[in-house]
Amino acid sequence: MSAPATENVYLPKTAVLERVVSEIAEVKTFYWHFEDSAEQEAFRQFRPGQFAQVSLFGVGEFPTSLPPSPTEGETFFTVRQVGSCTSALHRLQPGDKFAVRGPYGNGFPMEDYYGKNLVFVAGGIGLIPLRSCIVYALKNRNKYKSIQIFHGAKTPKELMYVPNLHEWEQTPGVECYLTVDRATDGWNGNVGVVGSLFKKPGVQVPVENTTAFVCGPPVMFRFVIKDLLEMGFSEKNIVSTLERYMKCGVGKCGHCCIGVAYVCVDGPVFTYEQIKKLGEDI
Ligand code: FES
Repeated sequence: MSAPATENVYLPKTAVLERVVSEIAEVKTFYWHFEDSAEQEAFRQFRPGQFAQVSLFGVGEFPTSLPPSPTEGETFFTVRQVGSCTSALHRLQPGDKFAVRGPYGNGFPMEDYYGKNLVFVAGGIGLIPLRSCIVYALKNRNKYKSIQIFHGAKTPKELMYVPNLHEWEQTPGVECYLTVDRATDGWNGNVGVVGSLFKKPGVQVPVENTTAFVCGPPVMFRFVIKDLLEMGFSEKNIVSTLERYMKCGVGKCGHCCIGVAYVCVDGPVFTYEQIKKLGEDI
């Protein structure tokens, strides 16, 4: 969505908080809508993998990925409490106001993957940006071949979007595999890093005609990439979304640059082949 030439692209629009859902420690999902219903409709044309800038009045602004799919009716963010802005968001109550501008960035080109197998690999809160792609793919199920979801967390309490995980585990035509580093709270599922799921009996990750989406902490990312390359994936068929501190979000300030790339407009979605060329040290 690009703004008309006369519109101030930095001007956020007022949003109203509807409800808050706790996901894991210090991570909550905030359901909200724009005060102006026309803004709401325009915003909902976003693509999976895009991001938005969230403003807390008198505190500041921060970037956040968009976990809903545009095929869903609701708008929401899932945000970890890490600084003054995110803490201010976490203190809001239903009915309170804040502001949003966006959506920004390239997003995942989900149409380019029509007719392909999709493999999603998410470590911890890396499932936040991938949730949008997964829900989008399931809504357009007949456009894709096999769909596999691999999600790992340190403990069972840190698995993200548990109701969605249960739903995906029950969805015909979808394989959803979970793992934790430490089996606490009566966990009797797989224990080990997320890549250990690839070698589980009965798991067959298709390599031909497949796009692999990988998001998670750097150490997990490195190991999963190594596993996928060893399996035979080509670098251009592995996609991820880069985290950078976006300030303007529209290619003006240079805050997000890696080499010649502006992550806010050229990304945040890149293939692993592109990430390597950028020299990004993940
Ligand atoms: S955040 Fe300003 S140029 Fe990317």
